Amino acid sequence: MLYNRTGNSGLLLPAISLGLWHNFGTTHVHEGKRAIVRRAFELGITHFDLANNYGPPPGSAEDAFGQILREEFAAHRDEMIISTKAGYHMWDGPYGEWGSRKYMIASLNQSLKRLGLDYVDVYYSHRFDPSTPLEETMGALDFAVRSGKALYAGISNYPAAATRKAAAILKKLGTPCLIHQPRFNMLQQEPLKEGVFKAAHESAMGVICFSPLAQGMLTSKYLNGIPEGSRATVGQFLKKDQITAPLVKKVKALNAMAEARAQTLAQMAIAWVLSHKEVTSALIGASRPEQIEDAVGALKTSKFSKVELAQINRVLTQ
Ligand SMILES: NC(=O)c1ccc[n+]([C@@H]2O[C@H](COP(=O)([O-])OP(=O)(O)OC[C@H]3O[C@@H](n4cnc5c(N)ncnc54)[C@H](OP(=O)(O)O)[C@@H]3O)[C@@H](O)[C@H]2O)c1
Repeated sequence: MLYNRTGNSGLLLPAISLGLWHNFGTTHVHEGKRAIVRRAFELGITHFDLANNYGPPPGSAEDAFGQILREEFAAHRDEMIISTKAGYHMWDGPYGEWGSRKYMIASLNQSLKRLGLDYVDVYYSHRFDPSTPLEETMGALDFAVRSGKALYAGISNYPAAATRKAAAILKKLGTPCLIHQPRFNMLQQEPLKEGVFKAAHESAMGVICFSPLAQGMLTSKYLNGIPEGSRATVGQFLKKDQITAPLVKKVKALNAMAEARAQTLAQMAIAWVLSHKEVTSALIGASRPEQIEDAVGALKTSKFSKVELAQINRVLTQ
């Protein structure tokens, strides 16, 4: 594994991190979840990303990960970076979502209970709340760090202007913002185009990109139809109708380029994300341990020539 410095901080994150958004709810058997986490850690993936609402049902991914920590990793806590977030709907009523101090701190307390931990390494505001003063949300992150319930503060899905403002508030409070977590992959490049990378980089933050495989669309999985059991057949977040003929045409062209580079499409997609200088880590998901092995193989052929990058761009903009 390669470990990259997170912005200007002292923290090194693995180039590939594992997220538990899917496949860790009560819908999946415990042994499968444990095997995924175990294989990731064996391969040097020290960073595990959660959120209060991961499941289904919400909270169950943190429950499952807490159980895995107790069963397998009790002796390894200091070798792991565990993050969680709050921002999306978690419980009913006026205090169960967005960015108030009330919600952010109550949710962190709940997450720590589910995880069975005294602290998380990174606590994120999961989304920008336009109705709450940013000073309040950032103040809650600062408080989480000062109270020892989190070691670092992060933001996710924040637009560029809010990113700069959040960083300035946190800096003033004395708890620098460690990291930004946007969605970024070959098919979804908004953070690069809309200045989020630039804002994070200029604010001394690291960047960890979620869904580098576009939920599986940037793998060989959907080249010849939609396989049973794939995320597009079960997922609420990836719909069958997103696997369109024009998409498959693009993905086939990208797959041929990956083959020419002697790597899988998943590996090329991850290497492409990591080729951006602002990016600290690619945050993958996995439904089985073999997918993690495939992902880690991306680090073997991680460089791109200018010609290859131009070729990829041509395919993506066709
Ligand atoms: N901050 C946020 O708002 C936010 C939002 C979304 C995600 N995230 C974080 O980012 C993490 C990753 O997101 P993601 O799961 O969408 O990432 P992703 O890496 O783009 O997609 C992962 C999915 O792709 C498929 N896959 C992975 N490797 C494969 C391979 N080698 N060959 C074929 N298929 C493969 C699997 O789906 P199958 O089930 O089809 O096998 C897997 O579950 C989440 O767990 C979460 O921690 C954060």
